[in-house]
Parts: sequence; structure tokens; C-alpha cells
Amino acid sequence: MSNFKKIYDFDEVINRRNNNSDKWTAYPKDVLPMWIADMDFQAADEIIEGLTAMSQKGVYGYGKARPDRLLEAVIYRLQRLYGWTVSKESIVLLPSLVTGFNVAANVALRRNSNANYLFSTPAYPPFFAIESNIGMKGIAVPLRETVEGNRLYYDIDFELMEEMVTADSAILMLCNPQNPSGRIFTREELKAIEAFALKHDLIVLSDEIHAELNWEGEHIPYATLSDSAKEHAITLISASKTFNLPGLSGGFAIIENAALRAEYEKAMMGFVPRMNVYAIKGAELAFDYGDEWLAQLKPYLIANRDYIVTELSKIEGLKLVNPEATFLLWLDFGDTSLGNNAHKALLNAGLGLNDGRAFGVTGNYVRLNFGAPRVYLEKAVKLIELALEEAKP
Ligand SMILES: Cc1ncc(COP(=O)(O)O)c(C=O)c1O
Repeated sequence: MSNFKKIYDFDEVINRRNNNSDKWTAYPKDVLPMWIADMDFQAADEIIEGLTAMSQKGVYGYGKARPDRLLEAVIYRLQRLYGWTVSKESIVLLPSLVTGFNVAANVALRRNSNANYLFSTPAYPPFFAIESNIGMKGIAVPLRETVEGNRLYYDIDFELMEEMVTADSAILMLCNPQNPSGRIFTREELKAIEAFALKHDLIVLSDEIHAELNWEGEHIPYATLSDSAKEHAITLISASKTFNLPGLSGGFAIIENAALRAEYEKAMMGFVPRMNVYAIKGAELAFDYGDEWLAQLKPYLIANRDYIVTELSKIEGLKLVNPEATFLLWLDFGDTSLGNNAHKALLNAGLGLNDGRAFGVTGNYVRLNFGAPRVYLEKAVKLIELALEEAKP
């Protein structure tokens, strides 16, 4: 490993088109893709060097089910970041977090075949798919949206949640920081979630994949709220978003309640594959050596956020969040000239975003990924302006 301090150049443009990248091949070649949640940056040097060395050995055998070094790195990180002490046993390795929340749903269904889960919308689209994947009913509870000037704000509507919860509700899916609104829930909000979960006897499935990409406020892992929260929490974490390794695919469920963890591991048996050896190595290297890269990335992403939010705030009628976390920006074109299909109009102008409708909302929303070199953001602003210009009567 090199021991000099490298200055990373996040402005560097890297051609990803010939690399099986979903982001760069889903749309036609002349479209700038700013949709799926990976970043267009190289990972930390130590990760590249470590994975290269591993590749060059040329033996790609099965990995260890419980790699000690990695488990220790997870324990150390949670302790250091949040003062959260977890045991080795409480860490369950996963091939992906999407797998992780589908397994949790399976646990609930094994307990009660009529079980349902509650989740907030707009939501990360795979939250909806649990229903079609394994037949567990999902109850989508819209976040409360408020608008001040051109700014969108979201919070949890507990009254509505009380109206929608049923006797068969078994899981409350929490996404914190929330994708796509970029909210970081406060301790007060999390305490209210805890009270709700206790009242209705719910497992809280807390997807905290974006936790380390926070710009304002403090990330509080749900399970650290109290001893009772810890007992009913399944927390999903990963190195993938933070260190830009999502294609390696892997993550962790932290389940401190031993009985719940046994059910969870039982539900995985036989059909959930192990975390693969590259994901293991990548996460280990990221947790051990990635902090310098991350310390340099964060100001770059904050400057990206400030740039894109400032530029897009100049557009009349466009409403947007100012994300407290994540490299994702949620935009509402409802009061602009883009008519009723902003996603299509922007695509026609050459900008590929996520269509808001996949997040379970009606209206004219899109999600833009600003985890990219600044030149892409500058181009995106121009393309948005072009689309609006072209749509004028
Ligand atoms: C909230 C959330 N959970 C999970 C994932 C995906 O996790 P994985 O790739 O480990 O399945 C994403 C990816 O964007 C996400 O935003």
C-alpha cells in the first residue's frame, strides 16, 4: 500500500461505456445518464490495488462464510462512527441489501402468512417489489410534502401511518437517510418511529445504506436509540454507496436480537448466496483504508450539491429538495413547461434521469444523481434548460 497522501481528482472523466455499466448503457449513446445510484468516480487507490492483487492470483475459489477481518472492521467502524457496540455474531453477511430486506419480509411471512409491511413514499423502487417478489402486501404511506418557495420538504405523517397500519402489519421499512428525498431523520422523529413500532409490535427494518454520505445533521442508527429499539431492529449497512463499490454487491444486516437473527439466517438458508470474495475484500479495504478518499469526496459532493441546487433554483416553477444526505436530487417539474412527462422530455433533450413514478408518486418528479464530475452537472443544467425551452408553446 502506498503511504503518501494522494489528492484525488474527482473532476476526471472516466469512460464507463464499455464496462457493463448499467448507468451508461441503459439509455442511447447521446444521452447523459444521471440516474441509477452509483458514482462516476474511481474508488480509493488502496481498494483498486487490493482488488487488482487479488485478481492477479488467478484463483477464484469460494470465500469464507464469516471472514474475521471484515467482521472486525465492521465492528470497529460502527463503534468509531456512532459509539455503537455490536457483537460479531450480530453481523449477518449479505450478497446485497435488496436481498437483505426481502429476507426480512420472508421472516415476517413465515410468522404470519397475511403479514404486511409499511413504507414511506416516494420510495426506493425495490421497496415496492417485495410484494411481487414474495407476496407480502406493502402499504405505502406518503411522506408529508411541504413547499416553501421552490423548496420541497418531507417528513413522516404519523397520523396517516396510524390510519393505515393494520393488525397484520409486521415490518416498518425505514430508509434513513431517505432515498429519494435526502432526509436524515432526527432523534425526535426516530423516537416517534420507535413508539409507533412498539405500539404495533413491528420489526423496524432500517436501510441505512446512505448513512455515511451525510451533508447536514447527524446520522443516528435506529438500533442505537434504546435497548428496546435494538431488540426489534434489523439494520442494513454497506460499504457500497459510501465507497462507490455497488457493482461488487454485498452488505450487512446487523441483528442484535439473537432469536430474530436465527429466524433471519434460517430464511436465508439454501437460496441466498454468500457475499462474494470481491465484495468481502472491497468492503474490508474500504473500511480499513478508504477514509482519506472519503474525506476528499465529501467536500466535492457538497460542492456538487450546492452547485446543482443553486443553478436549478433559478428555473421558474421547478421545485426541489436540498438533500441533507445522499448524492440524489429529487425534482418536481409539475409547475414548469414540461407538461406531464418531465422524464421523457428530459430524455428527448439528452438527459437520462430516474422517472419519479417508479418511486410511487404521481405528478412530474424525477431523480437526478449528482455523484459525477462537475462537467456532467454543468451539461445537465444546460440540457434541462434546453428541454424547458423546447417545451415552451
Ligand atoms: C435505500 C437503498 N437501499 C438499497 C440499495 C441497493 O443496495 P444493494 O445494491 O446492496 O442491493 C440502494 C441503492 O440505490 C438504496 O438506495
